[in-house]
Amino acid sequence: MKQFISVYDVITSNNGNINNAINQLVNEALTYKSNPLKDNTLGNHLRLGMLFLNPSLRTRLSTQVAAANLGMETIVFNVDKEGWALEFEEGAIMSGNTVEHIKDAAPILGSYFDILAIRTFPSLKNRADDYSELYIQQFIKYAGVPVISLESATLHPLQSLTDIITIQENRLHKAATVHKKPKVVLTWAPHVKALPQCVANSFAQWVNAWGEADFVITHPEDYALDEQFTKGATITHNQAEALKDADYVYVKNWSTYNDYGKVYENDPAWMLTNETLALTNNAKVLHCLPVRRNVELSDEILDGPNSLITTEAGNRVWAAQAVLANIIKTMK
Ligand code: CP
Repeated sequence: MKQFISVYDVITSNNGNINNAINQLVNEALTYKSNPLKDNTLGNHLRLGMLFLNPSLRTRLSTQVAAANLGMETIVFNVDKEGWALEFEEGAIMSGNTVEHIKDAAPILGSYFDILAIRTFPSLKNRADDYSELYIQQFIKYAGVPVISLESATLHPLQSLTDIITIQENRLHKAATVHKKPKVVLTWAPHVKALPQCVANSFAQWVNAWGEADFVITHPEDYALDEQFTKGATITHNQAEALKDADYVYVKNWSTYNDYGKVYENDPAWMLTNETLALTNNAKVLHCLPVRRNVELSDEILDGPNSLITTEAGNRVWAAQAVLANIIKTMK
């Protein structure tokens, strides 16, 4: 694996068969979960630079733990709080607020670090800019070292890999159903703020590429996602219909894609409760966190027996460790 920006970066490690490549990566992650230090010298004398243009709890700490398990050194830089304001536009006349061009900063970062990991959220103001992934693409272009996305403008691949790991791990625990194609539902949920589409886009991209689920996406009419990520899924605006017989329900808010970055409605009826969960096949519930309790997801679900959410957050370590290990092996 040369970089980790989207699901398609896993293909390089498995002769072009994406389903096999995802399953292999999931198995590697679960092997690390059962034996975290099995490759504890693989990353010796290698340095990971983690750049945050936006806040994080899980992504930051789980990736640091993963790197430590592989014997790597990690340096974290909160670019948004401690760095110069970066310019990303080619040919920009830098007479405004930006102080340093990515063309100048990225090669220097590439000389300090063996791998760069970057979190850069979308503006939610200009869809064309956000969906061109300008910021992370400029890092890739100018850094000269492998780049890992810690969540970019449109995708969150470490989260999505974790989500597949968590579903697969749960299926393996229920040996009787492991051969049945699970029904996986991604449901929109209410929120008070305009949130990126990254987690939903990325989950859809990974589940579609994985190809081992009967995949349904449900959202209010105005919340359609970009078809490049959802193609292959069944899409319905009827949440109850979507939830029927579901085995896994992924709950997430996102803002509008078409009239970009807006909150059109916050109908609390879309929040998953025990009553709506009763429509499912006793489904397990996932959410990437952080979550607004009793807005996006109810206490009774979050604290109830069907939640896989804490396990899912814990699995972030093993996803990051499998990705780092694959990139290090490609570098060697
Ligand atoms: N799920 C997730 O990416 O969490 P953080 O924003 O805390 O990293």
